[in-house]
Amino acid sequence: MTTPSLLILAGDGIGPEVMAEVRRVIGWFGDKRGLTFDVTEDLVGGAAYDAHGTPLTDETMAKAQSVDAVLLGAVGGPKYDALDFSVKPERGLLRLRKEMDLFANLRPAQCFDALADFSSLKKDVVAGLDIMIVRELTSGIYFGEPRGIITEGNERVGINTQRYTESEIERVARNAFELAMKRGKKLCSMEKANVMESGVLWREVVTRVGADYPEVELSHMYADAGAMQLCRWPKQFDVIVTDNLFGDLLSDAAAMLTGSLGMLPSASLGAPMENGRPKAMYEPVHGSAPDIAGQGKANPIACVLSFAMALRYSFDLGDEADRLESAVSAVLEKGVRTADLLGEEGVTPVSTTGMGDAILAALD
Ligand code: NAI
Ligand code: MG
Repeated sequence: MTTPSLLILAGDGIGPEVMAEVRRVIGWFGDKRGLTFDVTEDLVGGAAYDAHGTPLTDETMAKAQSVDAVLLGAVGGPKYDALDFSVKPERGLLRLRKEMDLFANLRPAQCFDALADFSSLKKDVVAGLDIMIVRELTSGIYFGEPRGIITEGNERVGINTQRYTESEIERVARNAFELAMKRGKKLCSMEKANVMESGVLWREVVTRVGADYPEVELSHMYADAGAMQLCRWPKQFDVIVTDNLFGDLLSDAAAMLTGSLGMLPSASLGAPMENGRPKAMYEPVHGSAPDIAGQGKANPIACVLSFAMALRYSFDLGDEADRLESAVSAVLEKGVRTADLLGEEGVTPVSTTGMGDAILAALD
């Protein structure tokens, strides 16, 4: 077995702050569990622009293609707002997703018991919630042609095209079924087959792929009804698979059922590489949080949980991922809170490093 390789791209703003805690966690797994990773670090986003005049160099792109997993912090910030679109920090991230062809975006919505009061929903609606939304990430209406703003007669028309090929639907569906097999063996596919042809095809292809997974209980739901059900009783779901546009909205909505942006990890997976591992990038859902950057206030949990997803989905170390997630859960049970998680009175927030310390102590 070759040593698993990781490329860390900490990025901008709070990216390097939260990634510093993940580096300590990776160190812990090396020291205490004998799990060594071949870790390299490089620049992305504004940091890369400052050093090289581009948000992602070709060398970094090549490294990302060659490693087992990329771990990304966050990109962007007001300093770069005036830059030309072609060199904006976000372009670095988009290039990674596009060239690695990361077509399946995994967004868990998980409620840690200690934070159930933190939700805007009633405690019993969210306590114990653990669902996974698989969003198609590289096709659909954000990419379909024709697109643009044209002039027709004496007014302008804005155009975007929802377009899915059977193979695009099939590969993301297969990914979702595989995931469902590892979880609760329940998959709900969401589209709008009632009003969209792409939805009709989506439903047909997902059903066809489902024949290969007889153990998975497959259901279909119109995406608008799905949005309602997610708010009403989210625990009815296990894995949800949906297209790029609906997935964008549904995953953000589901994420907020459980609380702070500082808690949310994600994974973006592509096709299997020669060693059988999927192309993969792991990153917190949050951005570079310029309002708190440099102040040691950022919650590192989203980034730490993204590493836990890497353990599970890239390195087949599900037990170690469980270990890390349990440590996070234990820390929250003990009442350790970064500032973004404050709700209860009389709790003094810990710093980014303080949260890292607590997670390491819980791991021990
Ligand atoms: P943001 O996610 O950076 O921040 C939104 C709010 O959540 C802020 O009040 C922030 O302080 C708070 N927050 C975010 N992460 C936190 C954490 N770990 N701990 C505690 N509080 C946290 O989104 P915003 O402000 O819209 O964007 C800021 C910059 O980040 C922009 O340049 C944007 O383009 C970029 N961005 C980058 C993303 C990425 O790298 N994937 C995603 C979203 C935004
Ligand atoms: Mg979104």
